[in-house]
Amino acid sequence: MRTQVGIVGAGPAGLLLSHLLALRGIDSVLVETRSRAYCEARQRAGVLEDGSVALLRRAGLADRLDIKGIEHGGIYLQFASERRHIDFRELTGGRSVTVYAQTEIVKDLIARRLADGAALEFGVTDTEVFDLDSEHPRLRYTAADGSRHEAICDAIAGCDGFHGICRPAIPAGALTSWERVYPYAWLGILADVPPSTDELIYAHHPDGFALHSLRSQAISRLYLQVSPDEEIGNWPDDRIWAELAGRLELPGWSLKQGPVLDKGITGMRSFVSAPMRYGRLFLAGDAAHIVPPTGAKGLNLALADVAVLSAALDGLLHGDESLAASYSATCLNRVWRCTHFSWWMTTMLHRTPGADKMEAQLQLAQLRYIASSRAAATSLAENYTGIAAGPAWHDATKRGP
Ligand code: FAD
Ligand code: PHB
Repeated sequence: MRTQVGIVGAGPAGLLLSHLLALRGIDSVLVETRSRAYCEARQRAGVLEDGSVALLRRAGLADRLDIKGIEHGGIYLQFASERRHIDFRELTGGRSVTVYAQTEIVKDLIARRLADGAALEFGVTDTEVFDLDSEHPRLRYTAADGSRHEAICDAIAGCDGFHGICRPAIPAGALTSWERVYPYAWLGILADVPPSTDELIYAHHPDGFALHSLRSQAISRLYLQVSPDEEIGNWPDDRIWAELAGRLELPGWSLKQGPVLDKGITGMRSFVSAPMRYGRLFLAGDAAHIVPPTGAKGLNLALADVAVLSAALDGLLHGDESLAASYSATCLNRVWRCTHFSWWMTTMLHRTPGADKMEAQLQLAQLRYIASSRAAATSLAENYTGIAAGPAWHDATKRGP
């Protein structure tokens, strides 16, 4: 079979890319190992930068987001038994973030791609990419019915996440990577209880970090720092609630509890691989970089990458290689800023197992500085809401929606 772009992975990056390409009249084949139901239920991120919301709106994908998304103009930082509000709107001249779950974005994208008649295959196995440095790289896979397929492409997009096959298909020596694995993990729950807070609470606590987030006025999302080798079986719901209450509670405030709908443990790492291109294979999203979730950046980075990539591929397929040549550098600029911010938030808020007594004092000094200095708070606010997109990012959607 012949297609213009072969896309591996139907997470937010791969799905949005196939839609943005379709808006430009470019056809693609998108293959995904998991089932549609699994992709739509996988609990992950929840916070969108204004730039991501604007991108989804321009792409005609925001009907449900505009109804169900909840705009947030700040966060609380909690430390040393105090809860301090960081007012993003006031600090950044009106910028905010929107709470809208990744599961909902994935549902919106899948529904739209299928309604538009996209070639989108779930449940594939044995995905392979090769001839990457030729003008016609190939994508091979076995479809859910057992039949083997080969797509001859003009370019391939590796949107297959950190554990995918695309990055490892690049010859050893062509990539440089940087990695830091953190000595803690997040235990996350989705709970059938209204949030106990109007804004997200990021809590520094001697027993470890805790985060109170939400999904709607009826559903809460909460996280606890745990050891990376912790097993979810050791955490019955009562133990989770008791630990969350201990780390989040303040005099005069209490945590509402309810049935736990979903729970899981996620390890934390920073990882960047560069360049994000080899020949006609382009990596995007978690396939090229991972951040710890404390800065709420992973999903936003994935969406920003494919906005740039859709324009780069449009150019490449029509004889103009300039945006494809600058794709990796354009994305990595944003990626490294977010990698630094996510590391900074993570190390400021988590307790390192075995750390000396100095660590907590340094963290508290930094938290007090943010709570008392407009300059320090503004730095957090502008990073959290999203550093202004550069001209290349703007161009990425100019000719599209
Ligand atoms: P993914 O969403 O990982 O999508 C990649 C897709 O490729 C998957 O559907 C996968 O099944 C598919 N795939 C893999 N291999 C193949 C193959 N060989 N062939 C075909 N398909 C393949 N970020 C936050 O900001 N906050 C959070 O709370 C948060 N929680 C997270 C929890 C977990 C467990 C993980 C892994 C990530 C989390 N993130 C979070 C990060 C955020 O969800 C990711 O940055 C985002 O999903 C990246 O999107 P993506 O499309 O690049 O990759
Ligand atoms: C979430 O709602 O899942 C969430 C929010 C903020 C983060 C990470 C995850 O920093």
